[in-house]
Amino acid sequence: MKVLVTGGLGYIGSHTVVELLEHNYEVIILDNLYNSRIETLSKIKEITGKNASFYNIDATDFDSLNELFKNEEISSIIHFAGYKAVGESVNFPLKYYSNNLISTINLAKLAIKYNVIKLIFSSSATVYGDGESPFTEIMPILERTNPYGETKAICERILIDTYTANKNLSVTLLRYFNPVGAHESGLIGEVPNGIPNNLMPYITQVAKGIREKLLIYGNDYETVDGTGVRDYIHVVDLAKGHLSALKSNKGGINIYNLGTGKGTSVLELVKTFMNVNNVNIPYEFVDRRPGDIAISYADVTKAKEELNWESKLSIEKMVEDVWRFENQ
Ligand code: NAD
Ligand code: UFG
Repeated sequence: MKVLVTGGLGYIGSHTVVELLEHNYEVIILDNLYNSRIETLSKIKEITGKNASFYNIDATDFDSLNELFKNEEISSIIHFAGYKAVGESVNFPLKYYSNNLISTINLAKLAIKYNVIKLIFSSSATVYGDGESPFTEIMPILERTNPYGETKAICERILIDTYTANKNLSVTLLRYFNPVGAHESGLIGEVPNGIPNNLMPYITQVAKGIREKLLIYGNDYETVDGTGVRDYIHVVDLAKGHLSALKSNKGGINIYNLGTGKGTSVLELVKTFMNVNNVNIPYEFVDRRPGDIAISYADVTKAKEELNWESKLSIEKMVEDVWRFENQ
């Protein structure tokens, strides 16, 4: 029973591989190292004391993928590999459509060819667009967000259609809210490329003095303190959600939000970071960021009821673990 984890050396993938190994799964990591480092493999070994096989393969390369499936008996796939920078996707849409769609189509084809039982796909809360929180899985997904968000919506539809025509393959679509945090060991975490887009990596760079101050995009939203509200989820909780999805006996198509169900404002997160880690984060309020919504948080009832999974780790723990990783 081997689990193929594409993008398994990336941020969420590496934490999920740790959980899988700790639960005695046989893991095959596929990653082309576009946004990850090979050292992560030894860190995973250091944390778990166990080995995962590693293939440096591009998931858009069908022939190499086919060889892998021919040689390894893969029963499940967790598909993380993809590009994820919203801003970059607006400037380079074809780069995003090619990588994210072709890799997913290749994996779906091979899943059918080699009788894979389950395919779990990394989707995103971004598919809900600017709807009203809490987001529930039955809400219609948006027609247009940005090219990155589009790739997630299209991949969801591709996989639903694939299942409809091939009922032996069950498909799980996991819609992540805002993953933050790092493994408690301080050995693995998020390593952003260039200037971070997302809040938490930006905060840590300001805390380290790499950047002068945090720009807070908008303080005039209708929220608790005027700043944007998001559902931050510890990456280890998120990784455990994949384990629950993998273990679930429920066949067919299943869609789950993975979040905490609680919203936290930008200011609340910044203040918690300063208090818990005893560092200063200079900040300034600036205009709203185009495309941002005021409030985004999940309805997590379905994952709790059907997967018996819920997040456990607090915002305090998230900021503590991030800071430990940064200072390792
Ligand atoms: P990440 O960039 O850290 O990990 C993705 C990994 O996939 C990287 O290691 C990269 O090298 C690899 N990769 C990319 N294209 C590949 C290809 N063609 N072939 C082989 N490997 C390839 O990103 P992450 O934060 O771990 O996100 C994982 C998944 O979750 C992505 O699909 C992302 O869109 C989705 N997601 C992330 C977030 C988030 O905020 N981090 C939110 C919602 C959804
Ligand atoms: N923010 C700032 N300053 C910054 C960065 C962010 O004030 O420098 C604010 C944003 O305006 C927002 C909040 O912090 O209110 C969170 O922003 P992020 O960029 O960290 O996260 P988003 O919710 O905007 O988007 C993220 C991912 C998307 C994903 C979405 C839902 O970037 O890819 O979560 O999962 F689709």
